[in-house]
Amino acid sequence: MPTWKATALAHPNIAFIKYWGNRDEALRLPANGSISMNLAGLETRTSVEFQEISTELPGDSLMINRRPVKGARLQRVSAFLDIVRKMAGIETRASVASESNFPSGAGIASSAAAFAALALAATKAAGLDLEEAALSRLARRGSGSACRSIPGGFVEWQMGMGDSDSYAVSIAPLEHWVLADCIAILSSEPKPTGSTEGHALAGTSPLQAARLADAPSRLEICRNAIQQRDFAALADIVELDSNMMHAVMMTSRPPLFYWQEATLTVMQAVRAARAKGLPVCYTIDAGPNVHVITEGAEAERVAGLLRNIPGVREVRLARVGGPARLV
Ligand code: PMV
Repeated sequence: MPTWKATALAHPNIAFIKYWGNRDEALRLPANGSISMNLAGLETRTSVEFQEISTELPGDSLMINRRPVKGARLQRVSAFLDIVRKMAGIETRASVASESNFPSGAGIASSAAAFAALALAATKAAGLDLEEAALSRLARRGSGSACRSIPGGFVEWQMGMGDSDSYAVSIAPLEHWVLADCIAILSSEPKPTGSTEGHALAGTSPLQAARLADAPSRLEICRNAIQQRDFAALADIVELDSNMMHAVMMTSRPPLFYWQEATLTVMQAVRAARAKGLPVCYTIDAGPNVHVITEGAEAERVAGLLRNIPGVREVRLARVGGPARLV
């Protein structure tokens, strides 16, 4: 086998209807469907190179932001590459180098962009040419939300019946609705409990069953709000869904509290601004940072408002992003 190399780029995504909890942890089959928007401007670029002879490298190697990485993170990437190797019928080790232009592990879905870029680069480097659905299914195995960073624009991950039909599809292209995500960054520290561990706790909350039972209705309301570009309807369902996920997190055993003091300050400021007529709503992932969704024309104004809130260190502005692609 010749030395094969490929580089891919993917954006993180912000979920409007969240994925929290798995039906199958190993296959990362979600307990509910989810809807998200890709984030332009934030990106992870990953190169994968499979070596010529299997004895050349004792194992896979991983560089993240130019630093060698070992331990659990390398193991997770190696386990993912094993799936790709099996698909391609190869056994050689790979060198992986990944760089992101945003902080990882702090509630900006870094693993989504990372595994979406890795899925595309690794399959290409291994000589495979997967279509979008197959690529999305593969990315899902690395990190559930990564399946949503494969298609472009506004995306829905259909929970599916099993491995073969649990993947994400675009429900509207990026030009469909000029939205922006103003990310109020309160902390860039890695979160204490990662989402893989968190998903496993979801079922211990007595609220998870109610959250799941109502998910089809929230998905439908969100899908319609996107299709009709109805910001008021979107704001309502996005905040409800985020609150429901955090209620589950806070009531799992052990409980997970991702918010900081300033998280609530930002949430309240967003609600107050909306009451005054500004099209804004908040949504929070597994971290303290607040994603403030707004219409494109208001993005700068909203970012300015957020910068004045005590505890907000930085505001990153992201518009709607495209699909994962080779570079
Ligand atoms: O893909 P994971 O395992 O990092 O889980 C993502 C979980 C949330 O970001 C909290 C919600 C979501 O749907 O993105």
